[in-house]
Amino acid sequence: MLKGKHVVLGVTAGIAAYKACEVVSRLSKLGANIDVIMTQNATKLVAPLTFETLSKRPVVIDTFERIESWDVKHISLAQKADVMLVVPATANLMAKLASGIADDMLTTTLLATKAPIMLAPAMNTGMWTAEATQSNLAVLKDRGVLTVGPASGILACGDIGAGRMSEPIDIVEAVIKLLAARQDMQGKRVLVTAGPTVERIDPVRYMTNDSSGKMGYALAEAAQKRGAAVTLVSGPVHLPVPAGVTLVSITSTQDLYDAMMMHAANQDIIVQAAAPADYKVQQVADQKIKKQDGENLILKLVENPDVAKAVGKQKQPHQILVGFAAETQNIVANAQRKLQSKSLDMIVANDVTQEGAGFGVDTNIVTLITKDAVKPLEIMSKHEAANCIWDEAVALAGAPLLHPARV
Ligand SMILES: Cc1cc2nc3c(=O)[nH]c(=O)nc-3n(C[C@H](O)[C@H](O)[C@H](O)COP(=O)(O)O)c2cc1C
Repeated sequence: MLKGKHVVLGVTAGIAAYKACEVVSRLSKLGANIDVIMTQNATKLVAPLTFETLSKRPVVIDTFERIESWDVKHISLAQKADVMLVVPATANLMAKLASGIADDMLTTTLLATKAPIMLAPAMNTGMWTAEATQSNLAVLKDRGVLTVGPASGILACGDIGAGRMSEPIDIVEAVIKLLAARQDMQGKRVLVTAGPTVERIDPVRYMTNDSSGKMGYALAEAAQKRGAAVTLVSGPVHLPVPAGVTLVSITSTQDLYDAMMMHAANQDIIVQAAAPADYKVQQVADQKIKKQDGENLILKLVENPDVAKAVGKQKQPHQILVGFAAETQNIVANAQRKLQSKSLDMIVANDVTQEGAGFGVDTNIVTLITKDAVKPLEIMSKHEAANCIWDEAVALAGAPLLHPARV
């Protein structure tokens, strides 16, 4: 299952280090090539020879060991890795990684790699719940670092609580999911909308909303990484365009409508995460509107086109349409209504009044609502939420998903 995949596995000095042996053994049986990097401290808990025997390769520990081959080890391992897995990840390792410290072979390689990083944290409950560890975790998650566990249970120190490392089988499962998932959208065309729209009032004033575009950009990036051809239709935001994604810039809801009418028909999956303005000013002033000596200024607003409804009307049998519902009350009921009225296959609903959800923040708390199911997800980074949304959308699409024009 993992034939040809290269796993660089870091082992740090947690008491669960012995369980990393089983992870290496399982990964190796699945065909993965494994290079183990141990911290000096970890070698006091498990002998490197154990990992060398299981991985059939020398274990790397020292950044400054004599060079035997002319590759710089931390760079070559960083480049070779399809995933960098740390089992167990100590509180110390997480703190160093969050701060960009590179004072040994493992942290240096983690800093150098472009591969996904997955940690299996393991520590005493006090260490896990410590504010410092939780804030390091938040920083790492925000950067897209993945975590497996920890679980709750009886810990080595006798405490009962959170901090127990996930079982090796679950860690291996997560690696399989990650590596197998990475290209599971190959051949699919997807379109993501993101950000706010801007409605002009006069040449110097406009109406807009709080959408930062972060969720839509995370969706576009995740789909591109999973192999999809991605078109991102975006309102004005302050975010870098993810590499490999085709950007279509729009300003107003009418622009968004026009862009969707042009690009929607070619897509396999459309996720509409933009927050288009429902209303626009009926008559945009040619000149700057002047103060009117104490008179109220009345702007007449007229409805914008309903973009999601229009896309829904043109929906083709092979297409999967996903909408977002930023709600402040009756979330599920409102989302279910929208699901029907806009011919959507799934609604990603969130209560924007909840802390950690909605506009501007890096996390989200979403509920995935389909015709048959309501799936609330826990608080997670927008990157993680993006992958959960694609998992669900790809499952809804079923495989293979090919645009008729390309069959
Ligand atoms: C027997 C023993 C068990 C330990 N278990 C853990 C653990 O499970 N998690 C953790 O974060 N630290 C644990 N520690 C503390 C770490 O080993 C310590 O923070 C060390 O500096 C980590 O080094 P490293 O991250 O470079 O491997 C343990 C220490 C000892 C002596």
